[in-house]
Amino acid sequence: MMNMDYINVIDNFVETVSTPILVIDDRSYVISSNKAAVDLLGSDFKGRHFYVAIRQPLIINLVENAFNGNESKKGNFYKTVSGVERTYEVTTKNSRELKIVSLSFYDTTDVIQANQMRRDFVANVSHELKSPLTSILGFIETLSGVIKSNPLKAKEFLRVMERESLRMSSLIDDLLGLSRVEAAEKQLPTEEVNLGDIMREVLEILTPTAAKRNISINYVQDASDPLIMGDYSQVVQVFTNLLQNAIKYGGDGKKIKVIMNSTEYHKALLTTGYKVSFEDTGIGIEEHHLARLTERFYRVDNHRSRNEGGTGLGLSIVKHIMARHNGRLLIESDPGNGSVFSVIFPNRIN
Ligand SMILES: Nc1ncnc2c1ncn2[C@@H]1O[C@H](COP(=O)(O)OP(=O)(O)OP(=O)(O)O)[C@@H](O)[C@H]1O
Ligand SMILES: [Mg+2]
Repeated sequence: MMNMDYINVIDNFVETVSTPILVIDDRSYVISSNKAAVDLLGSDFKGRHFYVAIRQPLIINLVENAFNGNESKKGNFYKTVSGVERTYEVTTKNSRELKIVSLSFYDTTDVIQANQMRRDFVANVSHELKSPLTSILGFIETLSGVIKSNPLKAKEFLRVMERESLRMSSLIDDLLGLSRVEAAEKQLPTEEVNLGDIMREVLEILTPTAAKRNISINYVQDASDPLIMGDYSQVVQVFTNLLQNAIKYGGDGKKIKVIMNSTEYHKALLTTGYKVSFEDTGIGIEEHHLARLTERFYRVDNHRSRNEGGTGLGLSIVKHIMARHNGRLLIESDPGNGSVFSVIFPNRIN
């Protein structure tokens, strides 16, 4: 049993620690806890056996071991906080002199989640590169067998190999682009760019692709060319991605409408800006997919998108670029009837 003065000192001391901390005496009673621990465990449990505060066997073992040795040990404690399961790394530390053990909780949920995301990312990239590569390797093997006997077949194999190589190369370009955009996301663009010029350039590049599919693009621009503070090549990427998607998923023989609006107030921005919309009359997207479209590698229909050479990175790149421009990407869709992808750029700040 410890002197009351000591406990007072300990009470005051633990309150200076911002992470949750419990102090347990050699009878296994909680003698002190800070506010962070009360918030985490729901009560201060002062004067009560620590089993009452923590029922997880691993942590109970940890405390018991701590009383038997000097070494600090760690273990995980799990707790659902506002609907989210959180993981805390618990460290025990023994003071032989004071005959106490301290238990501190360090929230590692975000670190674990970030690691998981990195692993998923690497797995996705590897998978995306692996399948075209496997196909190329297979064709090379077959090719060497038929190159003399069947030159026509050989030519066909070469075409497949070219297509698969291009897919890998475009995936790598997208990945590099994404990491460049992410790295620069905190820096506002400093050049003045003309959205009309950019749109005309993108339309010129993609009109032949659309024509091959019998798709007509109708471009409507309200008022004069908008000037914004932007990054020219990034805005080109945004328009290209959205128009390419409208072509790829809008359906052959259908119509695409591109509208560049004049400046108006946008609630999504809380200020005035220019909205550019890409409307297609294609398959559309069901509501439950909408929120996930900007996730890396997310595709509604993997098979269809892959056939189009897509990797599911386009919209995540668009989202990052719009964030850098202090703008927004809005997606609306009516399944079966088409989709509207809009980007809003804030007006140039003078
Ligand atoms: N206009 C659209 N209509 C219907 N579905 C769309 C449209 N635009 C995008 N999608 C869906 O959203 C998914 C993600 O689009 P995103 O542009 O990120 O990737 P992608 O086009 O598959 O590949 P990438 O752009 O990297 O070549 C697509 O796979 C497709 O399923
Ligand atoms: Mg795309």
